[in-house]
Amino acid sequence: MVAGQAGTPVFPADVVIIGGCGRVGLPFGVALASRGLSVRLYDLNETAVATVNEGRMPFAEDGADEPLRAAAADGSLRATTDPAVVGAAEVLIVVVGTPVDEHLNPDLGAVPGALDRCAGHLVDGQLIILRSTVHPTVTALTERMLSKRGLRVDVAFCPERIAEGHAMTELFDLPQIVGARTARAGDRAEKFFRTLTDEIIRLEPEEAELAKLFTNTWRYIKFATANQFWMMSNDYGLDFERIRRAIRQDYPRAADMPGAGFAAGPCLLKDTMQLAAFNQNKFVLGHSAMLINEGLPLYVVSRLEERFDLPSLTVGVLGMAFKAGSDDPRESLSYKLRKILLLKANETLCSDPYIADERFTPLDEVLARADLLIIAAPHPEYRDLATDKPVADLWGITGRGTRI
Ligand SMILES: NC(=O)c1ccc[n+]([C@@H]2O[C@H](COP(=O)([O-])OP(=O)(O)OC[C@H]3O[C@@H](n4cnc5c(N)ncnc54)[C@H](O)[C@@H]3O)[C@@H](O)[C@H]2O)c1
Repeated sequence: MVAGQAGTPVFPADVVIIGGCGRVGLPFGVALASRGLSVRLYDLNETAVATVNEGRMPFAEDGADEPLRAAAADGSLRATTDPAVVGAAEVLIVVVGTPVDEHLNPDLGAVPGALDRCAGHLVDGQLIILRSTVHPTVTALTERMLSKRGLRVDVAFCPERIAEGHAMTELFDLPQIVGARTARAGDRAEKFFRTLTDEIIRLEPEEAELAKLFTNTWRYIKFATANQFWMMSNDYGLDFERIRRAIRQDYPRAADMPGAGFAAGPCLLKDTMQLAAFNQNKFVLGHSAMLINEGLPLYVVSRLEERFDLPSLTVGVLGMAFKAGSDDPRESLSYKLRKILLLKANETLCSDPYIADERFTPLDEVLARADLLIIAAPHPEYRDLATDKPVADLWGITGRGTRI
């Protein structure tokens, strides 16, 4: 960064992303580069930084490979582990991970801490956009931290709402929520996001923080409702999917009722728990949803135990990612299912066409060796399974019914 003619800073890049090589940060950076911006990614993960600088995605994201290759080749997108880069652009995005801890408490320091560690490189006049999903008040905490350091910067909280795998379309199609305390911060953030989308929704930061948590929690509770309906139907000897299909047919008020299945992944549970913590842990609906969703692998195994002599059987778990068509194993309930089966079955074989893991077994071998199959992630590859073995498919993707 150098001083311009009137003393205003002249930045060598348009935007820097802290956490820029992650599942959210990288597609976001690639999308911005595809709109002509000069993008710098700051990340602690040396392997991911090297992969990105070679023009390759460290994980699968539909439609991102080619624009990343082009942006890395023409230099419009560069990644680095050097924190000095955070001062290289007027707009600085923070999208580091914000997990809950092993006691389900949110880490209030993840976002301000990431900025604090490189605060010596921040520059007066920057616009700092927080994009991680945070516990309400984290924006205010960050503002206070920056102000205590004497930095004159604008701050906005602008949540990411894409679904993994769909970022390269949704970043351009979804409205962007902009939460800002001052008109200037809001106007600057709005101008920046107009690079990607025309529809901007203005809120206060705390409203925007809650908007994001409500969005994910709403989804998590809906999945829990479907899962409880499935268990209820199953216990009564009925197939929930047949009932759901009847409910939804030409009946718009129930069109959003999801099917059953493991509701997991890096966001839904932890954001429901962030909301619970915000509400003094008095969140009956959220905690109930957690009990139902996290209990589902236990229910599946206990039902199978009633029908099969598990200690004498080899069980094949198909799909270790947290959702269909994904290579992301984070917080996938398939691993919990595997852990339970290790105690109950004679042998457990796991398979996933999207995830390279030496502990996994190729699908053909699982189909040949397993006595019983469980679809744990509904990858499209499992739709037409060529097997005469029993298949437990609570998702209903194989067309064999969802009863187990
Ligand atoms: N994954 C999703 O689908 C999704 C969707 C919407 C919002 N979010 C939210 O976005 C945030 C990021 O999620 P993610 O899935 O991209 O996580 P991720 O772990 O894939 O990415 C975070 C990146 O930040 C890097 N990092 C961590 N601390 C850092 C630091 N101090 N300085 C620089 N880099 C640092 C990590 O190395 C990693 O590459 C979370 O708050 C999450 O809740 C995620």
